Amino acid sequence: MTIDNLSHVLPLSADSTDQGLLQIGGCDVKSLANQYGTPLYIYDVQSIRELAMNWVQAFADAYPDSEVLYASKAYISRPFARLLSELDLSFDAVSEGEIEVLSAANVDLSRVYFHGNNKTPPEIYRSMQLGVGRIVLDGFDEIDTVAQIADDLGITQPVLLRVSPGVDAHTHEKTTTGILDSKFGLPIETGLAELAISKIIEKPALSFRGLHMHLGSPIFDLEPYKLGIEVLAEFIDEICIKKLGVSVEEFSPGGGFATAYRDSDDPPAPKEYAKIICKTLIDEAEKRNFSLPHITLEPGRSIAARSGIAVYTVGNRKEVPGIRTYVSVDGGMSDNIRPALYDSIYEVIAAERVNDPVEEKVTIAGKYCESGDLLAKDVDVPRLISGELIAIPSSGAYQLAMSSNYNLAYRPAVILVENGQSRLMQRREKAEDLMRLDID
Ligand SMILES: Cc1ncc(COP(=O)(O)O)c(C=O)c1O
Repeated sequence: MTIDNLSHVLPLSADSTDQGLLQIGGCDVKSLANQYGTPLYIYDVQSIRELAMNWVQAFADAYPDSEVLYASKAYISRPFARLLSELDLSFDAVSEGEIEVLSAANVDLSRVYFHGNNKTPPEIYRSMQLGVGRIVLDGFDEIDTVAQIADDLGITQPVLLRVSPGVDAHTHEKTTTGILDSKFGLPIETGLAELAISKIIEKPALSFRGLHMHLGSPIFDLEPYKLGIEVLAEFIDEICIKKLGVSVEEFSPGGGFATAYRDSDDPPAPKEYAKIICKTLIDEAEKRNFSLPHITLEPGRSIAARSGIAVYTVGNRKEVPGIRTYVSVDGGMSDNIRPALYDSIYEVIAAERVNDPVEEKVTIAGKYCESGDLLAKDVDVPRLISGELIAIPSSGAYQLAMSSNYNLAYRPAVILVENGQSRLMQRREKAEDLMRLDID
């Protein structure tokens, strides 16, 4: 396997030395591993910038009034937030914690959209005190809570309503969200979405701005976006405008845009998503004679995943003749729960000898106390030797964000690389971090 065969999953700046040593952002991974230790998460600044700007450009070309929000849940830290806000992106946040990090990174909070199917009253209070731009309502009790807090603070809070169009985006069952049987969104089909809007517009402390849907993730097909927008357009026309007399000035088809995890994955380009989303909305608005809303897009994975790569050191090897060879590494489900949770599949690279031929099929095992702690099953690699480095590309989204201290693992160091320079974005945890909350 050479890096040319991995051009869909590696960060954009990936290269290799003549000796076959993987380089990201002009830095070789061996030197980075020596300096920062492993497991190590490396984010490529060039990829973050280019992948984010691809979304901004694709929608700017296809629609008169669009705004790209980075979905913080994919991965966020202050330096990462600053990089994206320097590119003029807005943000989607789903907890007080994410909002606090965005605030500490000096993000303009009026450009933050607060999502979640059960935001707690303290979270809502704090978000409004900090001045988040939009709260995306996702439940009846929340309508009362947000209205009450807005009253108490003496403000009018702009809100969107998350609706469920009843469209299956054909993702993993744990990541599909736009169907009727989901905890997210008020269904259009059962009349709850209409009821929620009637309730919102009765509250003087709430300013109803529009609708949001999110179908799931990662969505490789374009068709679900078209179907979802058609359902919402009918709802906007017949229920919002004609029945309730409210206009929908803002609209979000959510995020969920796919990224490649295997090099054979072939996700649509941002401009293809932009084309189907914008064309469907423009056609529907024209047909039904409503004005085009401001649209917000929420890519997370499709910016962060490919920008990041995880590097591990190989340790023990266990051969079970005729069955499987396990090669264990110094990380696992504590920093990457996705294979255990979603059966996610990744490429694996012998990072110090990327041009070496494949010699065997092995399963890369994590070091944690679960049999299901396997990072990659049955992957083709050169014969891996204890002490050498492997890299797992497309590791920048929903890995660190879902990381844990299971087995009291230290969360890994996270670095940024660019033009041959590296800098720490988050240091590796140490024992005192694990004990900082103990009352002894
Ligand atoms: C409402 C909403 N928007 C955006 C996203 C981001 O999805 P992705 O990272 O796949 O683009 C999610 C993911 O769960 C979401 O729930």
